[in-house]
Amino acid sequence: MSPAPASASPADSDLVRAARGLPVSRTPVWFMRQAGRSLPEYRALRAGTKMLDACQDPDLITEITLQPVRRHGVDAAIFFSDIVLPLVVAGVDIEIKPGVGPVVAQPVRTVADVDALPDLDPDRLGFLGTAVRALVAELGATPLIGFAGAPFTLATYLIEGGPSKEHARTKAFMYAEPEAWSRLLAKLAVSSSTFLRAQIDAGASAVQLFDSWAGVLSAADYAERVLPHSRAVFDGLGERDVPRIHFGVGTGELLPLIGDAGADVVGVDWRVPLDEAARRVGPGRSLQGNLDPAVLLADRVTVDREVRRIVEQARAARGHVFNLGHGVLPETDPDVLTHVVELVHELTASPTA
Ligand code: CP3
Repeated sequence: MSPAPASASPADSDLVRAARGLPVSRTPVWFMRQAGRSLPEYRALRAGTKMLDACQDPDLITEITLQPVRRHGVDAAIFFSDIVLPLVVAGVDIEIKPGVGPVVAQPVRTVADVDALPDLDPDRLGFLGTAVRALVAELGATPLIGFAGAPFTLATYLIEGGPSKEHARTKAFMYAEPEAWSRLLAKLAVSSSTFLRAQIDAGASAVQLFDSWAGVLSAADYAERVLPHSRAVFDGLGERDVPRIHFGVGTGELLPLIGDAGADVVGVDWRVPLDEAARRVGPGRSLQGNLDPAVLLADRVTVDREVRRIVEQARAARGHVFNLGHGVLPETDPDVLTHVVELVHELTASPTA
């Protein structure tokens, strides 16, 4: 971690400033899944501990969250956890299977299942407050990003029972049981909002809402059956004044809508170039993205060319947070990630900074 000036604070960091469309000293960079299997030090620390146990151990959370900040010099830490954690804490029987993802013991398939879903008691998030406070103390001027899963993406895991490609059962439930669907997403919105508030109140400087799988929906269905519930997550943050990032994969057709949920920053995957994304998102919001994670597996010349292209295209946006278009692939060479941070900083350093 490079030492920050004594006066610097996370609330005035380049990440927060870019998210608000304010001038920055250089484009901030972080990576979705920066803490994880691409790092040997992560694999060593996680050995012998189940993912969801690690996510409830304040010492492990703190150390794993800090690893990529130390190694890569990224401009933000992202809280080490998982989108299903609030459900797990509420008592839903979920396991994260290595190489697979979240698996739900009793999927939500009926109206009765929806109504039986337990609520999240905020008093059970004590470990999270402990971890966030320890992190904020360690991070100094580097902001900590809190996060939660958006109601739709959480619903896909609950209904499918695990990861899926088409999310056909989820959509079938959405069409066949519109009222129960709405109740399910409303419940999930409360849980995600509670999870985000706990992170902000303990000191997180920004939040990201992951609606990773929303791109499987038409714009009309997204607008009518999903967006209001994502908006409820953000509305549940009340006056808490931290930037809100909203991200999904394959959301090219949804970009004009996603910001309406209440985001300051719209995350974009690699399918839509950022100048076109800026047009679709409209004024008044910043962009985050959008290097294809697979590019990091290619040669250095390709990596550099793609990073430069993104930095150029991002000039069309009100503000830019450099990131990947989705999470770091486990086989990524961590040195390439460090190189990308350095290159983005070098390309965007403002002469007056
Ligand atoms: O570094 C970070 O980005 C913070 C940590 C983080 C994790 N999960 C840790 C994790 C974040 C932000 C998430 C969010 C998450 N979890 C999402 C939204 C982001 C996205 O990728 O679209 C989703 C869909 C999930 C559900 C989930 N959990 C999946 C699909 C997987 C991967 C399964 C696998 O093994 O490939 C997980 C497990 C998971 N979450 C891992 C990590 C580091 C890997 C498990 C491990 O290391 O043992």
